Amino acid sequence: MAASSSIKLLAPLRGVTIRCFRHVFAGPIREYGFTGAITPFIPAMPGVDPAKDRELREFEPNLTVQFIGKDPAALATCLKRIKELGYRTADLNAGCPFPMVRNKGRGSGLLKTPAVLEAMIATGCEVMGPGNFSVKTRLGVERPGELLELMPIFNRYPLRFLTVHPRTAKAMYAGECDMAAYAQVAAAAEVPLILNGPGGQMIGRPFIRSLAARADIQELLGAYIAASEAELFGERPVLGRLKELVSYWQDNPCWAKRWPLAKLARTLAEFRLACR
Ligand SMILES: Cc1cc2nc3c(=O)[nH]c(=O)nc-3n(C[C@H](O)[C@H](O)[C@H](O)COP(=O)(O)O)c2cc1C
Repeated sequence: MAASSSIKLLAPLRGVTIRCFRHVFAGPIREYGFTGAITPFIPAMPGVDPAKDRELREFEPNLTVQFIGKDPAALATCLKRIKELGYRTADLNAGCPFPMVRNKGRGSGLLKTPAVLEAMIATGCEVMGPGNFSVKTRLGVERPGELLELMPIFNRYPLRFLTVHPRTAKAMYAGECDMAAYAQVAAAAEVPLILNGPGGQMIGRPFIRSLAARADIQELLGAYIAASEAELFGERPVLGRLKELVSYWQDNPCWAKRWPLAKLARTLAEFRLACR
């Protein structure tokens, strides 16, 4: 079952599509036609208060809060907390491919522990209510058929949607998307499905790359530098954040010349000079 065609979501990219970015780049986000965004993941762990996370510092409409974790009780506590803040929708990260995360049973590691995955989904749907909780995942960890085998679990719950990035965790972020395996999942899905791949309704890096060609990119970048300086302490974290963003622009002819210098910048002054 395909999700409503009116939905178009900005993918969560940790370190990139963060609150400060969404604020400064609100214009381009709107112009691209996004109807909403999912936050980069926030840990759902005992004793961690999501209200204190920088991501949720001020309320944003059309924002879905994504959690990563494997503890249903901690997830329930976090979900209740974000409901108090006014959020109506939340998402479970069942796709993070990094071995450090997945080997501990979080992110895509949930695909290896179906009982925990199901308990997380059941908790999410119960606390957020039918149609307000979603899951973002991959085709599998090692094999693209793993998600297909787990579809009966997803089909048992009133999910808002299931987002599928059509790669395995082992494939990380590169290589061809496996659209044949995605089609099999789509045929088995009784919950609304969102494709996070070519032609899909969730888009991350292609949008970030497209920013390089904007006529107002210098103004936007200037505003992002200023907002990041106001938010972070010291030049080092600001530079890290800026380099992460600008690295996506290196295939643009203008930025192909700027990026090698920007990458080496040790101060914000050097960075500004490189990006001019
Ligand atoms: C730097 C980076 C950070 C990411 N952070 C998250 C995250 O926090 N949560 C998540 O579900 N996916 C995360 N992803 C995966 C993306 O949301 C998306 O599934 C993936 O990039 C494929 O879509 P795209 O080609 O449109 O970017 C991240 C990807 C990248 C490259």
